[in-house]
Amino acid sequence: MTLAELENEKAASLKAVAEASDASAIEALRVKYVGRNGSIPALIKAMKDVPKEERPAFGKAVQAWRAEVEAALASKGVGGGEKPVDADLTLPGRWRNLGVQHPLSRVIEETASIFGRLGFTVADGPELENKFNNFTALNTPAHHPSMDRSDTFWFGDDCLLRTQTSPVQIRTMMANKPPVRVICPGRTYRRDTTDATHSANFHQIEGLYVDTKPVSLADLKSVLAYFAKEMMGSGVTVRFRPHFFPFTEPSVEVDFSCHVCKGKGCNVCKQSGWIEVAGAGMVDPRVFGHVGYDPAKVSGYAFGFGVERIAMIKYGIPDIRWLYENDIRFLEQLG
Ligand code: DAH
Repeated sequence: MTLAELENEKAASLKAVAEASDASAIEALRVKYVGRNGSIPALIKAMKDVPKEERPAFGKAVQAWRAEVEAALASKGVGGGEKPVDADLTLPGRWRNLGVQHPLSRVIEETASIFGRLGFTVADGPELENKFNNFTALNTPAHHPSMDRSDTFWFGDDCLLRTQTSPVQIRTMMANKPPVRVICPGRTYRRDTTDATHSANFHQIEGLYVDTKPVSLADLKSVLAYFAKEMMGSGVTVRFRPHFFPFTEPSVEVDFSCHVCKGKGCNVCKQSGWIEVAGAGMVDPRVFGHVGYDPAKVSGYAFGFGVERIAMIKYGIPDIRWLYENDIRFLEQLG
């Protein structure tokens, strides 16, 4: 075929497609020109017989022909190699299963949104941390059990998978002057054997508020009470129990009143009416010392939630492993 013949064929093919009105005629033209044994693929196969000096121009013309015929066919509803369908507007649409957000992502996004309304921004830190950020600056002494090889995934002497999101407190204060208001969601790691409530890899959300104006435990409690109501429902209240964490003084464990039985006692709260959700406290002055803040001039509070824990009580998930197994029977119930 010469170039001139090709142009004639092309014009004829485009005219034919433009004039074709029913699906079978359009399909026949598709097969004739661009189908597997159609004239355009045949020309491409025969390219090697075209004299070398004519080949570039000829190849270009064939490609242009193919593109134009395909565009013309596409405008008639032929695409992606599928069979054309007569335009029947009464056909039902194609059903696509919509995915849903994973409960852990949902809890993290909702928490960011709730604290966002209180002026907190989201801070981030690496999962591979150094000893200073994960332990030393958080006032955790070398003899503390969490420093142990049996409790933490170490890579050499100064590198570990963070055991908590608390090191993001350190990173945030080192990089910013007070006031500081952040939450820090992320993955954390411990050498735990997996069972219904433990996983070696889990998620936490850290919170940190530091100001040059005096900050008190009452501020912490009011913020957590607001969070509890927004996250779990308007009737939920918060209680503090004394506890110990190396990086806060005083330290508390935070319980939410059980959102299922309203505090009366049920299986979810193990008949106690309360569910433990977080650790918290007033930032220890020694922590301020480690990040270059003057403990005489600043004060603040910190808290740390387990994301899995919140998700499990909020959505009634009895086993932490369900969150990671990708079992469609579980995931389908989350919509
Ligand atoms: N990092 C602690 C843990 O993993 C939780 C925690 C307790 C975080 C008290 C805090 C805090 O910020 O103030 O067990």
